[in-house]
Amino acid sequence: MNFDENIERRNTHSSKWDMMEPLYGVSAEDGIPMWVADMDFRPPQSVQDKLNEVNHHGVYGYFGNDSLYLDAIQWWMKNRHGWDVPRGGIFTTHGLVNGTAMCVDTFTAPGDGVVLFTPVYHAFAKVIRANDREIIELPLVNHNGRYEMDFNAYDEALPAHARMVILCSPHNPGGRIWSIAELKQVAAFAEKHNLILISDEIHHDITFGTKHTVMQNAAPETD
Ligand SMILES: Cc1ncc(COP(=O)(O)O)c(C=O)c1O
Repeated sequence: MNFDENIERRNTHSSKWDMMEPLYGVSAEDGIPMWVADMDFRPPQSVQDKLNEVNHHGVYGYFGNDSLYLDAIQWWMKNRHGWDVPRGGIFTTHGLVNGTAMCVDTFTAPGDGVVLFTPVYHAFAKVIRANDREIIELPLVNHNGRYEMDFNAYDEALPAHARMVILCSPHNPGGRIWSIAELKQVAAFAEKHNLILISDEIHHDITFGTKHTVMQNAAPETD
C-alpha cells in the first residue's frame, strides 16, 4: 500500500472533506479533516482487484454461499488474534455502530442504564439515547496522559438500573490497548454487577506494535 500518495478527495461526496466547511466553517482548501475515522489511502491491490472483478461482472444479486467470507474472518481472527471464533458466532451487521445499537435494543429495555467508560467514541451515546436507554458515565482517569480505569470508584458509583457495559478496546480516543489484566477487570466488573458486556474491537489491527487481546481470550470464563 502506498501511504505517501496524495489522493484528491475533495468534491467526491467525502464526508470528512466535503462536509468540513458546512459543519465547521473550515475550508477544505486549507483544513485537515481529522474528525472522521476514514483513511486517505487505497486498500490492498487484492481488494481492489476483487471489487473490479465483481463490478465488471455487473450483476449485484442476492448473495448466497458466504463460506469464503466466513473462512476469511476465522483465518484472520485465528492468525492475527489467536482466537478460534466459531462459525456460528459470526453475525454480520451494516457497521459496528449498527451492531452495537442492535445489542442495546436486544439485551436491555427502555429506561435501563448502559455504562460507558468516558471519554469514548461518541456514537455509543447516540445509540443508547436513540433506544431510550440511559447513559451511565464512568470516567476514565487520566494518569499523566494515559487513561486508566478505577474499579473501586466504579463499584461505588454504579446505579442499580445498569444492565450493560460497552467497552471500546482498543480505546478511542485514548489510544489505550487494554492489558489482559485490565480486560479481566472489566469482565469481572460486568459479572459482579450482572451487566451484559459488549466489546467494540473495531480498531484491533491498529495497534502500533502493542498486542491487542480479544475479550473472549482475556476472560473466556465469563463467556
Ligand atoms: C470505536 C469505534 N467503533 C465504531 C466505529 C464506526 O464503525 P462503523 O462505521 O462500522 O459503524 C468507529 C469509527 O470511528 C469507532 O472509532
